[in-house]
Amino acid sequence: MSATCLEIRNLSAVLANGQRVLRSVSLAVEPGEVRALVGESGAGKTMIGKAVLGVLPLSVRIVEGDMLLEGENLGRLSPKARRTLIGTRTALIPQDPLTALNPSRRIGPQMTDRLVRILGWNGERADQRIRQLLEEVQIRDPDRVLKSYPHELSGGMRQRVLIAAAFAAEPRLIVADEPTTALDVTVQKQILRLIAQLQREHGTAILFVTHDLGVVAKISQKVSVLYAGKVVEEAETAALFAAPQHPYTRALMAATPRYTDPLASLKPVDEAVLAGLAAEIAAADRAWRPRHG
Ligand SMILES: Nc1ncnc2c1ncn2[C@@H]1O[C@H](COP(=O)(O)OP(=O)(O)OP(=O)(O)O)[C@@H](O)[C@H]1O
Ligand SMILES: [Mg+2]
Repeated sequence: MSATCLEIRNLSAVLANGQRVLRSVSLAVEPGEVRALVGESGAGKTMIGKAVLGVLPLSVRIVEGDMLLEGENLGRLSPKARRTLIGTRTALIPQDPLTALNPSRRIGPQMTDRLVRILGWNGERADQRIRQLLEEVQIRDPDRVLKSYPHELSGGMRQRVLIAAAFAAEPRLIVADEPTTALDVTVQKQILRLIAQLQREHGTAILFVTHDLGVVAKISQKVSVLYAGKVVEEAETAALFAAPQHPYTRALMAATPRYTDPLASLKPVDEAVLAGLAAEIAAADRAWRPRHG
């Protein structure tokens, strides 16, 4: 049996002022599986993705826990070995394709560079691979796209380019951080379908960050529900929608109109539930001491 693709064990992180932003987070992504990470704004979804990719802001410090990529404990590797492992086994599909691309360089060299730099491919092989992937993401005129600057493409096209770039090096794990949020609704659907299709064809595991339960239902097999940096519930996706266990999950679903009355306006998450959770988290924080560090 192959190793678990990503395993996060008991991960806690604090800000410079000592405030906890991740609270003993544990989750696993099996090979070829899509795990959704869902929660409201500020829950810490992006922070978890950045921790996995080794790009946390300097103001955030990991104070306990382990992250294992295909069985390799990232914390036990030298910084160089860690960067190499993360660089070759993972990729990111970001929320905002425009800021993820260098505005002053053409798309082609930006895409091939990564394959040349990280995987050591020669330019010709990288170019062929990128063209192949552009075809897979249904870009019909690859020559034009490769010669374009980022601002010359539509948002949907830019996201297709970044999806192609993410899959090009055959990573084992992709962190997709709200990859459709910056796009308009019709394009969102196309992009989501495209990611799902490539995920199946390439057998890539995805940690799929979203605040949208509708997206969770469409794309994932498993789901972790995050609130204030804490995983409050995890389940198989179908089971979560059939029978949510945690009051916060139920409140989140009740606040999402399409699961109750599609015509209802968006409601805030139930305040009593949030107050209960906040009290529970505050008590846990008072009792908490990192296990090491
Ligand atoms: N660079 C940073 N320095 C300090 N604190 C940060 C930084 N980035 C985020 N935070 C804080 O960490 C917490 C988690 O933020 P994070 O960006 O992970 O949330 P999120 O779940 O991705 O939210 P969103 O849905 O808005 O993207 C928040 O309280 C946020 O204010
Ligand atoms: Mg985020």
